[in-house]
Amino acid sequence: MTFARIAGTGSFLPEKILTNKDLEKLVDTTDQWIRDRTGIEQRHIAAADQSAVDLAEPAARAAMNAADVVASDIDLIVFATSTPDRIFPSCACLLQARLGIHGCPAFDIQAVCSGFVYALATAEKFVRTGAAANVLVIGAEVFSRIINWNDRGTCILFGDGAGAVVLQASEQAGILSSHIHADGRYADLLQVPCGIGVNYDDFKAGHGYVEMKGNEVFRMAVNTLGQIVDDTLAAAGLSKQDIDWLVPHQANHRIIAATAKKLALPMDQVVVTVNKHGNTSAASIPLALDVAVRDGRIQRGDTLLLEAFGGGFTWGSALIRY
Ligand code: COA
Repeated sequence: MTFARIAGTGSFLPEKILTNKDLEKLVDTTDQWIRDRTGIEQRHIAAADQSAVDLAEPAARAAMNAADVVASDIDLIVFATSTPDRIFPSCACLLQARLGIHGCPAFDIQAVCSGFVYALATAEKFVRTGAAANVLVIGAEVFSRIINWNDRGTCILFGDGAGAVVLQASEQAGILSSHIHADGRYADLLQVPCGIGVNYDDFKAGHGYVEMKGNEVFRMAVNTLGQIVDDTLAAAGLSKQDIDWLVPHQANHRIIAATAKKLALPMDQVVVTVNKHGNTSAASIPLALDVAVRDGRIQRGDTLLLEAFGGGFTWGSALIRY
């Protein structure tokens, strides 16, 4: 059987760091409040001339180097983002040109914070069916561009960054199972309420900002992630004890801790980057994965559980033999 195996990882963060202390000067908040409620200490913010593709390019090159593949080996690009460079062409096409790859399919996926899990699940199907052998899977965001920096309920949460993996066809186990879900009834709880088709005047006036009912999102995220953890393990016939590492979407330390508790996993087996990166939406999981691979925590043969929850609502998971 052909598996889709993670052959290499990469990530990139913009240079500028925005600390909680910096935010104290922008809105009525405190470093202590942000740490207590979210676990976030700082986040990276893209420069005015940096786009999602700008952040994705070095992340993709690092993943390709780690996987020991070159441009001509890549036969599919799947790019998860909610903050694309342009309405079109897709970020995947723009990145493809930057990397000097020609002709292979390339497309974007929009599932907000679940975007990377959606992209991974999609890429896995191409690899398993033999339609692709080396897929570049990216999550990259410049969420700072859709944040209202006067709204203390949202501006403290998000940051910018990019992460990437090369998913490769292999006889060795890789992705054991992947699961993706959505329920559009909850669209209004976490959204940018204007765009091309809705409230277009607001959009043109530059009011395209994240709005969120934080409390309700928090409750839904904890409950939904608790459920998907059970479903994922059951589908793969594994038990909680089989998980070596939880690599969660990095939205809030309290949501991450609740999922770890559900798995009876001590926090030292959970990859946490939310303190340093904030919520980078589709970039958060591949960023966290790359950090833990490069610092040596995650080793070949380890079993990883990736999980995410985001606007839509969307949610998903992937169980991986690394
Ligand atoms: N600093 C200080 N006080 C703040 C604040 C801030 N940055 N943001 C909100 N508050 C205030 C509120 O105004 C409220 O004040 P009030 O009681 O006088 O009305 C109080 O703190 C409590 O607000 P509440 O929204 O109940 O706080 P909370 O404990 O739910 O924490 C979030 C707020 C946003 C941190 C939390 O709801 C959360 O993390 N939600 C999930 C968000 C998320 O992860 N979204 C992405 C999913 S992919």
